[in-house]
Amino acid sequence: MRWGAVAIAVMVLHAASQAAAQGNVALGTEIWRNKGACQGCHGWAGDGRKMDSQLPDGADLRETRLDRDALVIAIKCGRPGRGMPAFDKFAYSDGRCFGMTLADLQKDGLTLADPAAPLQPREIEAVTDFLAAKVIGQGPMTRDKCVAFWGEDVAVCITIK
Ligand code: HEC
Repeated sequence: MRWGAVAIAVMVLHAASQAAAQGNVALGTEIWRNKGACQGCHGWAGDGRKMDSQLPDGADLRETRLDRDALVIAIKCGRPGRGMPAFDKFAYSDGRCFGMTLADLQKDGLTLADPAAPLQPREIEAVTDFLAAKVIGQGPMTRDKCVAFWGEDVAVCITIK
């Protein structure tokens, strides 16, 4: 009897945490497409086939080897000198990123790309949830996955085999 109750409690908790993760994936998708404009450099599918030819080539995130903590750090702190913007507003003001300030980066000759908009910590977590659920390790994009990603057979899916 007691174990039954424990099992039910575990199931309820699991369902609740899954619902929370789903909510963050929705927010994360929105940030990926619009607020963070990640798709401009990484491509809408995160495969590095960028949307805007003027922007730096973003990494292929479908193939990234980074774990969750490293993903969050990459998004917060960016990659100075390598085109990935820092999305934490205070990334290089108080030493929270690698103990460095903007002055340190300048001294090393590293330019920092500006983000479309800074992201709050919970927004960085959400876009990481999106990457974990929809991009990383999902294999190459296919027509079916494209339709599932957009929720309909949009123009970009038609060109995919
Ligand atoms: C202005 C172009 C640009 C934008 C916008 C951009 N990125 Fe990047 N991103 C890059 C580039 C270039 C790299 C590769 C940097 C390097 O060589 O280390 C990168 C690397 C990364 C990495 C590290 C991948 C790895 O395996 O090392 C992650 C994670 C990442 N980006 C996520 C994001 C997310 C999430 C957003 C939106 C919130 C975003 N990026 C927006 C250009 C961009």
